[in-house]
Amino acid sequence: MAIIKIHDIGYVRFRAPDLDQMEAFLTDFGLVRAGRETDRLYMRGTGDSPYCHVTEPGAPAFLGIGLRAASERDVERLARAEHVEVAAQDGPGGGSCVRLTDPGGFTIEVFAGGRKSKPLPAKPAAIVNTAQDKPRSGRLTVTQGPAEVKRLGHCVIECKDFRESEAWYKERFGFLSSDEIYMDGVEGLIGAFMRVDRGRQPVDHHTLVLLQMGRPGFGHAAFEVTDVNAVMAGHDHMKKAGHRHSWGIGRHILGSQIFDYWRDPWGNQLEHWTDGDMLPADAPAGRHPVNKLIETQWGPHLDLQHN
Ligand SMILES: [Fe+2]
Repeated sequence: MAIIKIHDIGYVRFRAPDLDQMEAFLTDFGLVRAGRETDRLYMRGTGDSPYCHVTEPGAPAFLGIGLRAASERDVERLARAEHVEVAAQDGPGGGSCVRLTDPGGFTIEVFAGGRKSKPLPAKPAAIVNTAQDKPRSGRLTVTQGPAEVKRLGHCVIECKDFRESEAWYKERFGFLSSDEIYMDGVEGLIGAFMRVDRGRQPVDHHTLVLLQMGRPGFGHAAFEVTDVNAVMAGHDHMKKAGHRHSWGIGRHILGSQIFDYWRDPWGNQLEHWTDGDMLPADAPAGRHPVNKLIETQWGPHLDLQHN
């Protein structure tokens, strides 16, 4: 039994030497400034989270993630179990949080109780005519420009020892495995796509992915955009702005998202995604060979030399 069941991922936290450069990149990526203090940059999506990307000044690094607890009572329960103090949450929105260190040395903040932000106006998803169904009468107009990001959807964290990290996250936060990855036979698990447990309510196929890479590291952070037109228009916008493309556009096998990966100015990989699988808590876990990670339903295969 986990200490608490977290509800979602809230934000990723980085350090970078130039906050202006980070803000310019993230603006092209489709995020909006939520707050800018002398020593912090907070960026948000159009959803109700006060922020989903934080940058502190300094040498480039991935610092950790923020996980949203169901209630402040859960934050307090976690603090008691971990023998740590409840702290005030920084940044817009306020609230309280507990700061833990995962087996890889990253800071995992579990927060609750802050003010939700008023969602920003967002372009509606395009009504799509298919061969089977034609719900749209009249002409389609797809707007250009950055893909509007709604929210952070998941983060991939690389581990020295997958099994140690998996146990650490599951015991504290109630993560469930949606799909497990093996190498050298089905018993040799080296990673898992994990979702939050909200009972019968379907949730994203993965909120956290842990992968054994021999050392702790940052894989990528993935931000949900409105629809496939936003992925495509956002791709065009990022390309014209001269940003470094990494992988895509394609559709994943595990989780099914349509994806497009970019690199920020310091090489951190950020993903635009839309149309992912949703699963309730009782969906059984799949088990797959490692090549399923980089193969696609359609779109380019991952080129490890140039991504
Ligand atoms: Fe992803």
